[in-house]
Amino acid sequence: MLRVAMFSAQPYDRRFFTEAAAGREIALQFHEVTLTPDSAVLAHGADGVCAFVNDRLDAEVLEALAVQGVRFIALRCAGFNNVGLAAAERLGLAVARVPAYSPEAVAEHALALLLTLNRRIHRAFNRVREGNFMLEGLLGMTLAGKTVGLIGTGRIGLATARIFRGFGCRLLGEDRYPSEAFTTLGGEYVSRERLLAESDVISLHCPLTDDTRYLIDEAALSRLKPGAILINTSRGGLVDTRAAIAALKTRRLGGLAIDVYEQETSLFFRDHSSDIIDDDIFQRLTTFPNVLITGHQGFFTAEALTEIAEVTLDNIEALGRGEPCPNRVSQEG
Ligand code: NAI
Repeated sequence: MLRVAMFSAQPYDRRFFTEAAAGREIALQFHEVTLTPDSAVLAHGADGVCAFVNDRLDAEVLEALAVQGVRFIALRCAGFNNVGLAAAERLGLAVARVPAYSPEAVAEHALALLLTLNRRIHRAFNRVREGNFMLEGLLGMTLAGKTVGLIGTGRIGLATARIFRGFGCRLLGEDRYPSEAFTTLGGEYVSRERLLAESDVISLHCPLTDDTRYLIDEAALSRLKPGAILINTSRGGLVDTRAAIAALKTRRLGGLAIDVYEQETSLFFRDHSSDIIDDDIFQRLTTFPNVLITGHQGFFTAEALTEIAEVTLDNIEALGRGEPCPNRVSQEG
């Protein structure tokens, strides 16, 4: 029996993982707390740890896990920017992730954000409930014929491109590895400068790396087509939030919809409704009528959760038994 300590476990993790673990030789211990140097002790006696996007897996935590006998880390997410891979390799800890699960789930959420923001559905919902049927302030733009720029045309970027194509949008893309699937859809690869200057909507779908951190900074925002809408469902660190606030204030940035936030670790996946939120940048964002924020829910569909649980448990079985695992991540990528 493989013993696995799961951190940041929410009720839905319990439900989908318990269902997927039926009939497998895996014993899961669910811990609600986030993995930190203090909570790492909860992994005592476990063969492996199952972690999520905001669990800390830097050298300090990995060392604390390794001394307790933990042998592997199974991430139940795609991104692994929170893992100190050099330290994991040094400590002999194998790391695996779930590279792809329903890319459509995230793509559809990106569209849900855009449609809500563009047609002011978030404001209309409240108005109608208050008996206010005025339209002033709810003006949107017709998406058909507009230009959409996708930074990253991998699985999710491509799924997003397919939907936008259905809307009748012109597609521009930027990717280090251009894909034929994108051009076959009618997409055109252009330089980042052109993408920023020509797009009415920009959606980010690349991973967070040293190269992509603050990809959308003050300089990039100054190149935007005035009034352009920015969507980020990838990782918060892709956008310099202070610069985005400044661009919203000058009206250059016409709207911002984010499912991820650079300082989300201390906020997301918890109920802070009775707390005073100390993050002034986040609080400023919530004051704009043209900013829409969701708390990292792009992946949150029943189909995606089922797939995440199945693939994570497959990874746990392979890593736990020392068998080859196709979803291992290493420093080389
Ligand atoms: P993927 O690996 O299929 O595609 C990423 C694409 O980005 C690749 O084509 C890659 O060549 C490209 N890329 C890498 N560096 C680049 C750069 N410097 N400039 C332009 N393009 C670059 O990944 P996938 O599955 O499409 O996921 C994308 C991101 O979405 C993930 O890294 C993750 O951060 C995020 N994500 C968010 C979720 C949410 O719930 N909001 C859920 C799942 C993933």
